[in-house]
Order: sequence, then structure tokens, then C-alpha cells
Amino acid sequence: CGDSDGGAEGGGGDDGQIVLGFSQVGAESGWRTANTESIKASATAAGIKLQFSDAQGKQENQISDIRGFITQKVDVIAFSPVVTSGWDAVLKEAKDAGIPVILTDRAVDSQDTSLYQSFIGSDFKVEGTKAGEWLVKEYEGKTGDVNIVELQGTTGSAPAIDRQTGFADAIKANPNLKIVKSQTGDFKRADGKTVMETFLQSVPKIDVLYAHNDDMGLGAIEAIKAAGKKPGQDIKIITVDAVKDGMTALAAGEINFIVECSPLLGDQLMETVKAVKDGKPVEKRILTKEGTFTQEEAKAALPTRKY
Ligand code: AHR
Repeated sequence: CGDSDGGAEGGGGDDGQIVLGFSQVGAESGWRTANTESIKASATAAGIKLQFSDAQGKQENQISDIRGFITQKVDVIAFSPVVTSGWDAVLKEAKDAGIPVILTDRAVDSQDTSLYQSFIGSDFKVEGTKAGEWLVKEYEGKTGDVNIVELQGTTGSAPAIDRQTGFADAIKANPNLKIVKSQTGDFKRADGKTVMETFLQSVPKIDVLYAHNDDMGLGAIEAIKAAGKKPGQDIKIITVDAVKDGMTALAAGEINFIVECSPLLGDQLMETVKAVKDGKPVEKRILTKEGTFTQEEAKAALPTRKY
């Protein structure tokens, strides 16, 4: 399954180059595209041979990608797990074959943390908390009911689970902030649009949309406009990621607040791959630095935004 890229035959680095097998989630969002570009560019810059596979959003594809990398005897395996659960068996196979594994972007729920060397990526729960805290502040001092609809990411994925929990925890002391509908849009723009259409049909008064990523928020904006409402005004919108399209909508007043999630994990991954290959100790958890954006901050940041 998946595409192969990077030109390494077999693996094992006969010419001395490190061979990295990487299984990507898919190409579901602008964030993912930027993440893939970051990984490919950083591998080239670091002189690492990259075997790249696109799992097209399916865990079974990722498992077979990883098994393929084990058979090829790559030096290091890295992947961004589609969902959190169900990895123990294949991670054990990699461990038994003596091939170190690095997680990027998303976590696994394996109890045995010796199955991977490091996990590089964002704290998705903190992202959800930042989204919720902004909303609490926005409605500070107001007591009327605020109806919130939530577009969740891929069911069972770490960002969907943690962004939901972080947000719910942050608003829970304010009983007037009510999540009235919550459904997955699979991190995709088209799904964000269709799910928002059903929300608009079934909820008479929607005050706020919380979308787990920019793409679903952008799809929802199309549905909101088609329903004759003004995104950012009639319905306040909070999203996560801060990719260029999201930031453009924020600067234009159609989104109200974006929590940043950086896709630029390539350089940290390549550094960790080299350290692991050299048998040097690495941090078990490498956290990405990220902020938040208001409409004014988006206007200032857009001209130099890289992705
Ligand atoms: O795992 C990171 C998430 O996956 C991003 O927020 C989302 O856009 C992507 O598809």
C-alpha cells in the first residue's frame, strides 16, 4: 500500500546513509500537506534516505507499511499514528527486529513505552484548553445560553480525543456554555461542510463553532454562508492549526480565533533519527512550541507565514 518515495532500495544504508521508513497518516488537510513537505525537505537536508508511505487514513495500511519497513531492514521507523490504539503487536515486531521507532505528531496508547524511543509533537489537550479559555473570556460576564457545535477530528485519533477533552474541561465551570452537537468531520474540508449543514438544519440557534482543525472550519464556513449567515459574526468560529487558508479566513474576520498546531516537525525528527541511530539518548517526549492567533495577530503574521 501507499506510495514510495526517496529512492532507497531495500534499506540498511550500504552507502552509509541512514534509511528512515516513514508512514504518514494521509493527505486529509492543509496541515498534513505541510507536515509531509517538512519531513521530505528535512530528510533531504539531513542526508537521510526517506522511504515515504501514505496510509490514506487507514490503520491497516500503516501496519503493513511498518511491516514492510521491518522486512527492508530500514535503520529507523517513524510514523504518525492514525488512531491511538492497536499498535502493540507491530511495535513489538519492530523492537524484536532491533529497529527503533519514533512517533511524530500523534501518540499511541501503548502501556509499554519501551516500544518507541521518542514522541515528537504538540500537546493536543493544551490546544483544546486554549480554545476553551478563549471562549470563556469572550463570554465573560454574560449569562445567557451559548450553543456550541463541535466538529471533531478523526474518531479515535489523539488530536480528536485530546482537543475535545481540553476544550470541555476549560469551559465546564460555565454552565451557560453548552456543547449541543458534536460530530466527526474526519479533519476534512468536505466533511466539515456536510456535517455543518446538518448542524444548521437541526439546531435552531448556533452561537459558536469549535472545529478541531482549520480545514473543517473552512468547509463549515461554506455551509454557514450558504445558509445565509455570516461566519465570524452570526456564528463565532474557533479552529486549530493556523495553516495559511485558516489564517486568511481569520484575518478576513470569518474565523474568530485559531490555536496553533505546528506541522514543521521535520528537523526535530531528523535530529532524533540521527541520535537514535548513533545510540545517543533522546528525550522521550519532544514538545512542539506553538501559540494562538486573534484576527489582528493573523493579519500581522500572514505575510511571512510559510505554510
Ligand atoms: O494530528 C494533527 C492533526 O491532523 C491536524 O490538526 C489536522 O489538521 C491533521 O489532519
